[in-house]
This record gives sequence, structure tokens and C-alpha cells, in this order.
Amino acid sequence: MEWRRKHVLGLADFSTEEIEFVIDTARSMEDVLTRDIKKVPALRGKTVVNLFFEASTRTRTSFEIAGKRLSADMVNFSSAVSSVEKGETLLDTARNIDSMKPSIIVIRHPASGAAHFLSRYVSCSVINAGDGSNEHPTQGLLDLYSVLKAKDKVKGLKITIIGDILHSRVVRSSLHSFGRMGADLWLCGPASLVPREMGRSGATITYDIREAVRDADVVMMLRIQLERQKTAFFPSLREYARKYGLNSEIFSLAKKDAVIMHPGPINRGVELSDELADSAHSIILNQVESGVAIRMALLYLLAGGHNAAH
Ligand code: CP
Repeated sequence: MEWRRKHVLGLADFSTEEIEFVIDTARSMEDVLTRDIKKVPALRGKTVVNLFFEASTRTRTSFEIAGKRLSADMVNFSSAVSSVEKGETLLDTARNIDSMKPSIIVIRHPASGAAHFLSRYVSCSVINAGDGSNEHPTQGLLDLYSVLKAKDKVKGLKITIIGDILHSRVVRSSLHSFGRMGADLWLCGPASLVPREMGRSGATITYDIREAVRDADVVMMLRIQLERQKTAFFPSLREYARKYGLNSEIFSLAKKDAVIMHPGPINRGVELSDELADSAHSIILNQVESGVAIRMALLYLLAGGHNAAH
């Protein structure tokens, strides 16, 4: 297919063909990552700005590594040491950065819709690296890619996502990526954190962790996002961990070859036991590894590497 998309703002409007094209491009990027010299000149002369208004370890670092592997000039912006601290708005910040002629802005922001908003006012491409509780499209793609690598398929797999569904931008992207590929999706958590309307996506909703994990092929655990919770959604973390934390006894209900995923950061002992996080079933670090290839693919496609190569 011919890549026509200028921005990656969410997976809601991605076609199945586009998702497959990104995955195929990521596969070819993996080849670069296995070489002794992990660098190709595809994006030489292009500049990518990481515009992060929220904390990040995996997304920000992997975008930086991805860009460097492609020879792009990478610029890291952190709101904490910028003129945002002096009251500059998101729009003014973005317009000023756009004036310096980057090819791509990668933005993470606590407000849902921030990436869409920005894309209307800048001339460069925009990649959403997580906006509030809305979407985290690159995570949705890397999660899909990780399952494909672990299981060779997604169609028909029981994929269960457990935790703070209400505040999770990861879920909102993963429902699209896994859903497009025909997964049997399940969402689980306390009723206060699993909105009924999420069932409209085709996912099965349950408040019973045993039902959610039984015969699952993939169990993805989510962190409780206390930073986005204005009121109490459950009595205490201790009680939450007791009812919705994944431990070996609960996980034994899943298929024998089931894998455990987590977008990170993990709150060990709350949503996931130490034992499982570090077990042979865990593909959590594989997800991080997949993130570099997926982000290389997206930078390459958006910055025109694809057109230059053909
Ligand atoms: N998965 C994820 O978005 O992790 P970071 O917040 O560390 O980027």
C-alpha cells in the first residue's frame, strides 16, 4: 500500500491495512536492530522533537533510540525545564518549535485531545505519545506486534485486560489494534473502573478476575492511575490488590502457554506479583523491545523515508 497518513493521533481511524503495513515495516526495522552497527541513513537531515509534558521512561527513550537508529536529529523537550514553567501555552510552545522546521513532533500531554489540537496548528507531522485518557497509539501497535511475535497470530486469541480501564489510554488504543485483528477481548476490574460503554467495542466485560483469566492466551495487567483519579474508586490499594492483582494461583487458570503483558510502569505487588512479572510467561520486556521497531517504522513512514526509498 501507499502510506498517505501525515499524523498518528490514534488508532480509531486506522484501517486494518494500515496497521498491517506498520507491523510489516517494523519487521523490516528489526533487521537493523540485529546488526552490529544499528544505524541506517534513512532519516538523515530530518529532525524529530520529543515534546513531553508528562513523565515517561519507555515511550520517550524508545522514540529517541528509534530516531537515532534512523539517523534523524533528535531533540528532547521537557516541560519541567521549558518556558511552559513561565506560563507559555501548549499552542505557543508548539508553534515556536514548528518554526524551527522539525519533520515530526512526538507529543505526550495530560489533556485528552492535545495531539489532535496540535496537528491543526503545526506544519510538521504529529505523533501522539499518549494524551490523557484518550489514546496511546504507538503502545497499541507495539502490543499487537508483541502478541504476533509471541503467538504468531491474534485472531481468535482470548486477550484479557485487567485494571484501571477507565483511565487507560493504552486500552483505548489496544481495543482498536487487537480488535481489528479479530481477538476475543475481555476487560476486567472493579465496576467503578470498567465503564459499561466499553462493551460497545465488542469486548466482554466482567468484574470477576477468575472468569477473565480462565483460558486466556494473553493477560495484560494495567496500573492504577492514581494521578488521574479525582475521587476514590476502591477502598484501598491493599483491597484492590487482593481482588484484582494477578498472582500465580489466578494465573494458573489461563492457558498453559499464556503470556503476561504490562505497558509499564508496573506497581509490583499491586496489579502484578513479583513472581509473575519476572516469570518465563512475562513478555513485558519484549514489549519494550518491540516499541523501538514500531517507533522506527512510524518515524520512517511519516518522515518520508518510505517515499525516498521508492
Ligand atoms: N508504556 C508507557 O507509556 O510507558 P512510559 O510512561 O514509561 O512511556
